[in-house]
Amino acid sequence: MYKFPKDSKLNDPKFIFGVATASYQIEGATGVDERCTSIWDTFCATPGMVYKQHNGDVACNHYNLYEQDVELIASLNVDAYRLSIAWPRIIKEDGSVNQKGLDFYDRLITALERKNITVMATLYHWDLPQYLEDKGGWLNRETSVKFAEYADVVSQYFGNRISFYVTLNEPWCSAYHGYRYGIHAPGIADESSGFLACHNLLLAHGMAMPLLRQNADQSQHGIVLNFTPNYPVDESSIDAAKFADDEHSHWFIKPIMEGNYPDSVYQHFIDHMPKIESNDMAIISEKIDFLGVNFYSRSMVTDGRQGKVSDTILKKLERAEIRILESDDVIEGETKAEQLQKLMNQKESHYLSVDLQDVERTHIGWEVHPEALLKLLTDLHQTYKLPPIYITENGAAVDDHVVNGVVDDEQRCRYYQNHLSMVHEAIKIGVDIRGYFAWSLMDNFEWAEGYKMRFGIVYVDYETQERTLKNSAIKFQEFLSARKAEQLQG
Ligand code: FCB
Repeated sequence: MYKFPKDSKLNDPKFIFGVATASYQIEGATGVDERCTSIWDTFCATPGMVYKQHNGDVACNHYNLYEQDVELIASLNVDAYRLSIAWPRIIKEDGSVNQKGLDFYDRLITALERKNITVMATLYHWDLPQYLEDKGGWLNRETSVKFAEYADVVSQYFGNRISFYVTLNEPWCSAYHGYRYGIHAPGIADESSGFLACHNLLLAHGMAMPLLRQNADQSQHGIVLNFTPNYPVDESSIDAAKFADDEHSHWFIKPIMEGNYPDSVYQHFIDHMPKIESNDMAIISEKIDFLGVNFYSRSMVTDGRQGKVSDTILKKLERAEIRILESDDVIEGETKAEQLQKLMNQKESHYLSVDLQDVERTHIGWEVHPEALLKLLTDLHQTYKLPPIYITENGAAVDDHVVNGVVDDEQRCRYYQNHLSMVHEAIKIGVDIRGYFAWSLMDNFEWAEGYKMRFGIVYVDYETQERTLKNSAIKFQEFLSARKAEQLQG
């Protein structure tokens, strides 16, 4: 089982342990109960965008197997479950509410309540209704208004039954991957679009906050951001690493905490900046009750003139290139050549990221570097006046196999132990961390990587939908059961 020093806050039952998932990644049942099409259904159906053109049509069939999955969650002895609600199940194209969609989450939340499991619900984990994308998606400010309306519907319906409302999951991914690099839905590769999507996403978050507070006055309301801290490869790259952090982390957290975007990035990309209306920054910086931090890895950067573009960035740009070449839609007034030219410019501006040799990596290629989590948490703590933090995602992709009923995911077990130890250290230093969610409860649809990457602590056989606890899950189970037993003994 996982182990921490005796006096560790992690041993205190007040520290919340949970597991996390997201709607499109596990639910399946995309065509039932009047669910609308989402941008991920469309993206998956576009050749070349997702590994082997996998999609979320069946996924883990959680929509039908949710009762069994709640039993599974409870069997892990966790305190909480972070799920996401699918917008396309809740609001129909004509703007009316789909009761059948609300009913599904009602059944799920009721099952969790029976097991005394605290609910954290993310309102937007990337599955935008396609009918909104057809009107410009996150490039259209109206989508932010629509998001607030949807958040209002959900929070009016569930109120305080959801203890933690998360407006958005990783707006970085939605905006940059979806509209800037073109490797996630809706697959747009355009610098200005990336920044515009980002602004509208943050606005959506800010617009929803007062409604959530009003409808669920006992609940906590916040946002989940992803952080991949940038490290300089050498002394001459310190400024480059700082810039990369500004572009990828502070661009999202600073407007929320302080009401303005980092100036360095604003000036660098001045030709691509969206129009910011007078009240926007006040809306975006609405007070949050907690910050969700997703952490997986770090990134190494060089000042660009010395290094070569990393494989990951190259892969992203190649996909975007294919998308432009194969697509029939012409962005208004822009030829394909012009779009490709923009992409080349991006290559220059991303002439920053390098792959280190001889370091441990997970199956998806991400470096394992737990110390970066401690550094991130202490840096954020020193830079901002933060509300309580929850680690809302952390985990590892491993090439898992069931052998004689056992999944020996040694690397993932080590990953969890070492990252949790960093959380312990951060708390000791004074960072106010209240909980930790493992990504993920079970293997699921890993976006552009399809079902190839397994992040679960529970193995899913996609043929039979059988779930098998991996050793990493058993270690959670044992640790949490020991923690409970100790609590009972006082
Ligand atoms: C995060 C996403 C989550 C999952 C993990 C591996 O960026 O929030 O859905 O895909 O990465």
